[in-house]
Amino acid sequence: MFDRLKAQPADKILALMQMYREDPRDQKIDLGVGVYKNAEGVTPVMRAIKAAEHRLWEEQETKAYVGLVGDPAFSDAMIKLILGDAVLRDTVAAAATPGGTGAVRQAFEMIQMANPDARVFVSNPTWPNHISILNYLGIETVMYRYFDDDTRAVDFDGMLEDLKQVREGDVVLLHGCCHNPTGANLNLVEWKAVIDVLNDRGALPMIDIAYQGFGDGLEADAEATRLVVSSVSECLIAASCSKNFGIYRERTGLLMAVSQDAGARGLNQDTLAFLNRQNYSFPPDHGARLVTMILNDDDLRADWAKELEDVRLSMLGLRQSLADELQRLTGSDRFAFLAQHRGMFSRLGASPELVEKLRVEHGIYMIGDSRMNIAGLNQKTIPILAKAIVDVGV
Ligand code: LMR
Repeated sequence: MFDRLKAQPADKILALMQMYREDPRDQKIDLGVGVYKNAEGVTPVMRAIKAAEHRLWEEQETKAYVGLVGDPAFSDAMIKLILGDAVLRDTVAAAATPGGTGAVRQAFEMIQMANPDARVFVSNPTWPNHISILNYLGIETVMYRYFDDDTRAVDFDGMLEDLKQVREGDVVLLHGCCHNPTGANLNLVEWKAVIDVLNDRGALPMIDIAYQGFGDGLEADAEATRLVVSSVSECLIAASCSKNFGIYRERTGLLMAVSQDAGARGLNQDTLAFLNRQNYSFPPDHGARLVTMILNDDDLRADWAKELEDVRLSMLGLRQSLADELQRLTGSDRFAFLAQHRGMFSRLGASPELVEKLRVEHGIYMIGDSRMNIAGLNQKTIPILAKAIVDVGV
């Protein structure tokens, strides 16, 4: 029977990770997968996570099941972190999921259950796994213009024009902050215009927020999501703790379904519980418990927020240094966009051939669409990258 299986397309991010591992060169630079690395190239366990793990080890008496949607305290803490006071708590149904990807997958399944004819509009480009999961589930995907290859900023007019094609019952997937893969983001006035189009057409916004705290700060990065939830009657939000708590392998995420219709919450909550049960039953607890402990303890929370802020500022510093170095080498402001982008990624705007050249000739690994993980750089590798970019003729 297994001989009937067909080979599946490789995930380009994971394939690149593998190629990097297998490259024997000492001078190689990994700007691939979206994992934060400090100046020593290490992805550290955050101090507050260590402290919470220590406390948990001492205090936890059982590993018995928690609940199908996870611990309600985790949902409460995350809803507060992301949505603040933008909506009443009882408008939000929520379920813990295995990472942000789990939340995305469950959201797509919920959409399919609610409206099998829904089309999901995604930005061009978007995180490749969005499209892969949509295809896998057989959901029609439509791309809207997002990134302007010339300006390396959002093509807002194109985006708005394309979003006017949405029909009632369609879904529009938006990145809450730190757009992956481009690093180019909407401002709040533009968000408002997008919301107006979706409200006019009766389309449902779905927000993927995986990098809160990596762009302009914990609060600023949540502003767009808060604006959406307070301006629409229904929406979905898939959140990840992988990056901002640095707990990638613990698989910690949350799916929220918000509805202003007071009667809808119960059904939404039951649907999320049902989906968890079908797909993996109880969601992982360890990471969610650590996050809850941190968010509910003043000292741990302050220390976590401080470390996250240091991470954010260090990435901004790397962006600025790279933009400055390229300015120095080229004598032009062509690469100034690198300092304006936000989050872990920037799309350099190099052709796949040049990306390949950077890998083969310089041992620099970025995704084929020229997405660079800025956190993969340090002050030593910035001049090397800048010179290579100029050498290959980006
Ligand atoms: C990325 O975009 O590199 C991360 O979100 C990791 C992943 O799972 O692809």
